[in-house]
Amino acid sequence: MAGVVVVGSINADQVTTVARHPLPGETLIGTSIAVLPGGKGANQAVAAAQLGARVSMVGAIGRDALASSATAILESANVDLSNVRAVDGPTGLAVITVAADGENTIIVIPGANAAVAADVVGQSADLIAGAAVVVLQGEIPAAASTAAARLARGRVVLNLAPVIELDPATIAAADPLIVNEHEAALLLAQLTPGAPPPASDAEAVARLREWGVTSVVLTRGALGAIISDVEGTDAVASPVVVAVDSSGAGDAFVGALSARLAAGDTLREAVRLAVRVGAFAVQSRGTQPSYPHAGDSLPEVRSEVRTDFA
Ligand code: RIB
Ligand code: NA
Repeated sequence: MAGVVVVGSINADQVTTVARHPLPGETLIGTSIAVLPGGKGANQAVAAAQLGARVSMVGAIGRDALASSATAILESANVDLSNVRAVDGPTGLAVITVAADGENTIIVIPGANAAVAADVVGQSADLIAGAAVVVLQGEIPAAASTAAARLARGRVVLNLAPVIELDPATIAAADPLIVNEHEAALLLAQLTPGAPPPASDAEAVARLREWGVTSVVLTRGALGAIISDVEGTDAVASPVVVAVDSSGAGDAFVGALSARLAAGDTLREAVRLAVRVGAFAVQSRGTQPSYPHAGDSLPEVRSEVRTDFA
C-alpha cells in the first residue's frame, strides 16, 4: 500500500482583506480581493503532495470558469486528478474575509462538492482500498465520507471540519480524528447529547476517546496540539510565528500529518512535523499558496512542550 487519497472538497476561494471584520449591518472598505485555490480537501491534498507524498484526489468541480482557478495548484503539485469529475453546476466557492490580525471568517457554497455522492466514491473503490492513508473532511456529503471509510483498508484520517453528522462507526475508526477546540465541543454535543460542554481541551480529548474514537488530535493554533491514543495523551508545542492569514493552516496540518503517516512516521512524529507546517502556512496570505514544499525551512519549536494543558 502506498500513497494518500483525499476524498473531499475543491473550492475557489474569494479572499478579501480588511482592517477588521465588519459587524452585522456595517459596511467597510476592504483592502484587496483575490481568487485563489481552496477547499479543505484540495488544500490537504496540496499540502501532502508538496511534502513529497504521492496523492490522489476524489472529488468534483463544476464546468465553469472557477474550476481552473480551483485546481491550478493541485495540478502544479502533481496531485492525480483522474478521479475528480466535472459536473453540471458551479465549482464550490468560499467567501473568505481576512482581518489585519490574521483571523478569518469563511462562508462556503458547496456547488459541485454536493455532487460527491456515495456512488461517486464507489467508482474510486480500488484507489481508496489501495491507499496507505485516506483523508476525509466535512465538506462533502456525509454518505460519501462513510462510503470512503468503509472502502479504506489503510489508515483513515478524519478532519471533521466543519462538524457534520457522520455515521458513528466512521468517527470511531478515525486514526486520528483531527478537530480544533470548537469542533471538539460541537462533536461531543452531537455524540453525547445532554452532557455539559468540555471544561478544557484535555477534557474534550479524553471524552472523545472514552466515547470510542481510536485516536484524537486536537489542534490548538499557536498552542500546538494534544494527541491521545492507546499509548497515552501528550501535548505538542507549536513554533511561535507572526500570523498573517490563518485560513487553511489547519488543512496544512492535516495534509502534512497524512503525508508523514503514509511515509511511515508514528502519529507523534507526524504531529510534531505538522504543527511546524501549520505555523509556516499562517505566515503568508491564502491557503495553498502559503504551504511549504519539501526542503523549505520550517519554523522551529522554541518553547518547552506545554504540560499545563489540562
Ligand atoms: O480550511 C480553509 C478552507 O475552508 C478554504 O480554502 C475554503 O475553501 C474552505 O473550504
Ligand atoms: Na496562509
